[in-house]
Amino acid sequence: MSAPPTAAPPGRIVAGVLAPHPPHLVYAENPPQNEPRAECGWEVLRWGYERLRRDYENKVFDVIVVHSPHWKTTQGTHVLAVPEFKGLSVDPIFPHLFRYTYDLRVDVALAEAILEEGRAAGLEMQAMRNPDFRVDYGAIISCHLSRPAWDLPIVVLSSNRAHFDFGNEVGEQLQVRLGEATRRAIEKTGRRALVLASNSLSHRHFTEEPAIPEDMSHEHIYHHGQYLWDMRVIGLMRAGKTRQLIAEMPDFIDGAISECKDGSLTWLLSALGFPEYPGELYGYGTVIGTGNAIVGWVPPVEAK
Ligand SMILES: [Fe+2]
Repeated sequence: MSAPPTAAPPGRIVAGVLAPHPPHLVYAENPPQNEPRAECGWEVLRWGYERLRRDYENKVFDVIVVHSPHWKTTQGTHVLAVPEFKGLSVDPIFPHLFRYTYDLRVDVALAEAILEEGRAAGLEMQAMRNPDFRVDYGAIISCHLSRPAWDLPIVVLSSNRAHFDFGNEVGEQLQVRLGEATRRAIEKTGRRALVLASNSLSHRHFTEEPAIPEDMSHEHIYHHGQYLWDMRVIGLMRAGKTRQLIAEMPDFIDGAISECKDGSLTWLLSALGFPEYPGELYGYGTVIGTGNAIVGWVPPVEAK
């Protein structure tokens, strides 16, 4: 029998998670929302998410805030700002694995506060107010795997293209400021937030799929150099050396063709204030050869 939920004081990030979004993980879970059926697959990562959910089931959250690499915007950062979205999300690369019916609520007040804080920090921010907008699958998958009940409103931030258009250093600086703005908005609105960075680590992948997608005899890291990068980055996260990780991030992005190039992890670490305490590693595994780690940070609650 689990202990009753314990509520942290309001206006804070209760937990932050590196919560990667391979659609294969939802496919292998066979939830009712997803149409394709699987026999098995990618268990180590799925067991990692399971352990994360168990660790967090007694925490009180008001909202999930997620930054997704698959909502790519070119005019600054966009934020969902409509109370509800419903639809069918189909992964464009893996439509045979992910056709997911979603029905979600948005914390519009927090979204507006993030827009406001971002603008105050000099960032280009745009509200997404189209009720028929198709919510991206990266955000949906990270939210589903972290909290499949969909019992909380969410806020989704896009990834702007600054790393790609202006270079890694510029992109990183903007994501650090966006993370700070997100934290301020959470504090000012009094939300107890679960904050998710929806990205993989190394991101070279195979281009041919086995006849049975969940045939695990085909699954392994794409390249040893990618593995070495992933182990280095995981080591820094587990050692609480997130400022060193940020310093090395531009090299990691280039060396491992990392999905960190979309800024989600840097945004998360900035929102968390660059933790010097260890991140809890819940699992590491590959999906079509890409490196994926599930890592959680629970900031200590300071005594007042
Ligand atoms: Fe992705």
